[in-house]
Amino acid sequence: MKKTIIAIDGPVASGKSSVGEKVAARVGCKFLDTGLMYRAVAWLSGELGVETSDARGLKDLAADMEITIRGARILVDGEDVSTLLRRKTVEARSSLVATIPDVRKTLVAKQQAMAAGGGIVMVGRDIGTVVLPNAPLKIYLDAPISERARRRHQELVERTPNVLEQDVFRDLEERDKTDSERKASPLQPADDAIVIDTGELSLDNVVDIVVDLIPDES
Ligand code: DC
Repeated sequence: MKKTIIAIDGPVASGKSSVGEKVAARVGCKFLDTGLMYRAVAWLSGELGVETSDARGLKDLAADMEITIRGARILVDGEDVSTLLRRKTVEARSSLVATIPDVRKTLVAKQQAMAAGGGIVMVGRDIGTVVLPNAPLKIYLDAPISERARRRHQELVERTPNVLEQDVFRDLEERDKTDSERKASPLQPADDAIVIDTGELSLDNVVDIVVDLIPDES
């Protein structure tokens, strides 16, 4: 099992999770999609009636919440909520809870604890800049918004056949704006990140590129 630490960041639908999961499987590392943790706070706070304006309540909830990641499944306090976390309402709410500095601090500490000991591919928005600034390999995946909207639309029509690509496009624009304009850890490539435009590449191409970039000593 590799002890390396790989940080992958990028905007919505840039391919982070698919690439990260495949790279982790190829090199025998754990995989953590940190977006699921923000989604979990969003979902649980909605269930418990904690308002998105209640920073203290959200922080306490994030601290007390027990998250277990099992491959692509996520359990919150023992309940498998993987499907619920993909809901549009949870997604929109997760962008809001992710702007709250104390929520971020709490989740970042949990993410750093999960990476202690190495052997992990972690994906998100601030992994290379804040969570794992010493990671030996930092990747920033990007793609033109039209291509990301096309991909996300393709995924969504399987579950919701009448969803329109133009609505997905608008939704991505909105989430890109919230993620990159927020004060706390805005989405941006780390200075030492390798930026890969996935627009013209297949998933396997990107996985090959990332695996080739893993430093030999790790
Ligand atoms: O990657 P995703 O769409 O599942 O992320 C959900 C929200 O959480 C999204 O608005 C960005 C935010 N997020 C973040 O701010 N930092 C991370 N490390 C991961 C996700």
